Amino acid sequence: MNTYEKSMLKEGALDGKSIIVTGGGSGLGKAMTKYFLQLGARVLITSRNIDKLRKSAQELEAETGGQVVCVACDVRSWQEVEAMKEEAIEKLGKIDILVNNAAGNFISPTERLTHSAFDSILDIVLKGTKNCTLSIGKHWINTQKTSGTVLNIVTTYAWTGSSYVVPSACAKAGVLAMTRSLAVEWAKYGIRFNAIAPGPFPTKGAWDRLLPGELLEKFDMAKKVPLGRVGNYQELANLAAYLVSDFSAYINGEVVTIDGGEWLQGAGEFNMLQALPQEMWDQLEALIKSKKSG
Ligand code: HXC
Ligand code: NAP
Repeated sequence: MNTYEKSMLKEGALDGKSIIVTGGGSGLGKAMTKYFLQLGARVLITSRNIDKLRKSAQELEAETGGQVVCVACDVRSWQEVEAMKEEAIEKLGKIDILVNNAAGNFISPTERLTHSAFDSILDIVLKGTKNCTLSIGKHWINTQKTSGTVLNIVTTYAWTGSSYVVPSACAKAGVLAMTRSLAVEWAKYGIRFNAIAPGPFPTKGAWDRLLPGELLEKFDMAKKVPLGRVGNYQELANLAAYLVSDFSAYINGEVVTIDGGEWLQGAGEFNMLQALPQEMWDQLEALIKSKKSG
C-alpha cells in the first residue's frame, strides 16, 4: 500500500467533534465521512436521497463503529437547510464543523443550456453553500457561541475557469470568494474557513456526468496529470481531516490544491516541451548557443 493511501492523523484526532457533511452519502463526501468517523467524530450526512444516505450510513457504521445521522435536505432550500441544522443540534448536541461538499455538474456547450439548467448548478453549488454557511454560521455566532470550522470543496477551475462546465466554474469561483471573504470577516467569532481544490478523483457521480459513454476511453484523466495518476480517496480524506481538525488552527482562508500538478500543466507557457525527446535537447542547446553573439 502506498503511504498516501494510509490514514495520516493519529487516532482520536477528531474525538468529540460533531460534523455535517453535505453530499456525504456518495463519492468524496462518503470517503471524508468514513475517515472522520475513524478519527472519532460523529457525522451527520445530508443530501436529497434519504435511501442512499441510509445505505451509506449503515456501511460506514459497520466499517468504523462510528455514529452517523442521516437527514434528507435539498441544500437549495433555506427552509430545508434550517430544518437540517435543527436536527443536527438535536441529534448531535452541537455542531463543530461544516463540510460544504454537495454539488451538481454536467458537461454541455453553454449555448445548449436553458436558463434553468444553468440555475440548477448555481443553486446547488453556490446557493447551497451559502444556505448551509449562513444557517450554521448564524447559529455559531448567536447561539452556540463556540468556534466553528468550515471546509468548502471547490475545484481548480474556480480560478482558471473552464469551457463546457461554465455554471459549475461560476459557482465554484463564488464559493472560493466566500471562503476567503468569511475567513477574514468571521475570524473574530473563532470561525475558520478553508477550501480544497481536488483534481480528478474518479467517482460515479462525477464520471457519469463529466465523462459519459465513449469520453471515458477517449480522455484518460491520468494523462492530464504530471504525476501520471488520478487521486486516491484516502489522500483527500487525510487533507480534509487535517483542515477541519484543531491541528490546522492557524490555517484560515487557504485553498489547498490536490491535483498532482494538473492545472499548472495546462497553465505554464512552455509545458508543451515535455513532449520533446531527450536527444533533441543537445541539438537545441547548440542552436541557442550559436545565436548568442548575433
Ligand atoms: C443539458 C441538462 C443536462 C445535460 C440536465 N440538464 N442535464 N442540460 N445537458 N447533460 C438540464 C435539465 O434538462 C433541466 O433543464 C435542468 O438541467 C435541471 O435538471 P434536472 O434533472 O431537472 O435537475 P435535478 O434533478 O435537480 O438534478 C441536478 C443535476 C443532476 C445537476 C442536473 O446531474 C444531479 O442531480 N447532480 C448531482 C450530482 C453531481 O452532479 N455530481 C457531480 C459533481 S462533480 P430545464 O430547462 O428542464 O430546467 C464536480 C466535479 C468538478 O462537480 C471537477 C471535476 C474535475
Ligand atoms: P458525487 O458523489 O455526485 O457528490 C455530489 C453529492 O452532492 C451527492 O451525494 C449528491 O447527493 C449531493 N447533492 C447534489 N445535489 C444536492 C442538493 N440539491 N442538495 C443536497 N445534496 C445534493 O460527486 P463527487 O465527485 O463525490 O463530488 C464531491 C465534491 O467534490 C463536489 O463538490 C465536487 O464538485 C467536488 N470535486 C470532485 C472532483 C472529482 O474528480 N470527483 C473534482 C473536483 C471537485 P443526492 O443526489 O442524494 O442529493
